[in-house]
Amino acid sequence: MGEGGRLSGKMALITGGAGGIGQAIACAFLKQGASVMLSDIDASHAGAAANRLSEVGEIHACQHDVTDEASWNQALEKTVSALGGLNVLVNNAGIWVAGSVEDVTPDAWRRGMSVNLDSVYLGTRQALPHLRESQPASIINISSIAGIIAGPNLAAYNAAKAGVWMLTKATALHAARGGNNIRCNSIHPYFIDTPLLQDVFARGGERKALNDDQRGKLASQAPLGRLCTTDDVANAALYLASDESGYMTGAEIKLDGGFSAQ
Ligand SMILES: NC(=O)c1ccc[n+]([C@@H]2O[C@H](COP(=O)([O-])OP(=O)(O)OC[C@H]3O[C@@H](n4cnc5c(N)ncnc54)[C@H](O)[C@@H]3O)[C@@H](O)[C@H]2O)c1
Repeated sequence: MGEGGRLSGKMALITGGAGGIGQAIACAFLKQGASVMLSDIDASHAGAAANRLSEVGEIHACQHDVTDEASWNQALEKTVSALGGLNVLVNNAGIWVAGSVEDVTPDAWRRGMSVNLDSVYLGTRQALPHLRESQPASIINISSIAGIIAGPNLAAYNAAKAGVWMLTKATALHAARGGNNIRCNSIHPYFIDTPLLQDVFARGGERKALNDDQRGKLASQAPLGRLCTTDDVANAALYLASDESGYMTGAEIKLDGGFSAQ
């Protein structure tokens, strides 16, 4: 399956791959001929997702904590050994952190920075030697529209996702200056109905599916009148992973239904 597809011959590692966006990106990549390693801190969910997607193409799964250097080393070794190399890295793992600059506790702040930003630094640093071996290569960082537009109750999330945005550009310039064909770009989605969004509305730590009223309010704030979808993100990631985006580096793709144009 996927023979001659837009990602034929591409070997991709997708972090946070058990989640809503990670699975959608994996499915889109497989359909276009890539082979995929799905990594997640939740190994059983990653394994179950890979099992389901194995009908579509070559996919593996592994346990991976993106905040941990040794875990990155293991995940990259497993990827290269299972797929034969690495030329697409999707830094997708992330968590929601709520609270204003006064409300967010130092522990929550540090955890948010660690999972949402430090992870991208650690992974990029360790992946670059592998990516150099299998050029052309592409690093795709899943930031957020919250990395560009702030909210009063999003201090830690805003700061981490803005950090991912700039780290993307610094990485792109570094790779280009080294004469490598390794591109690095970021994607900035508006709200998407995944488990992460349920954390936005969680009260007392309990995830709860959004009700129609909550969904409708968020949708109405985007000029296109709907939420972003995991397929919207997967389609942008597909473009960035493929050689079709060969002249794009250090750039950001905003998937916000016009929210930031207002
Ligand atoms: N859902 C949205 O509204 C939205 C909007 C913009 C950006 N994003 C970003 O998209 C990315 C994916 O989010 P999602 O909506 O699919 O959420 P999700 O909660 O469905 O998936 C996130 C995945 O990351 C994994 N994860 C958490 N901590 C980890 C760690 N330390 N190491 C490895 N994996 C870890 C989780 O187990 C989970 O499978 C995140 O970076 C998020 O910030 C989401």
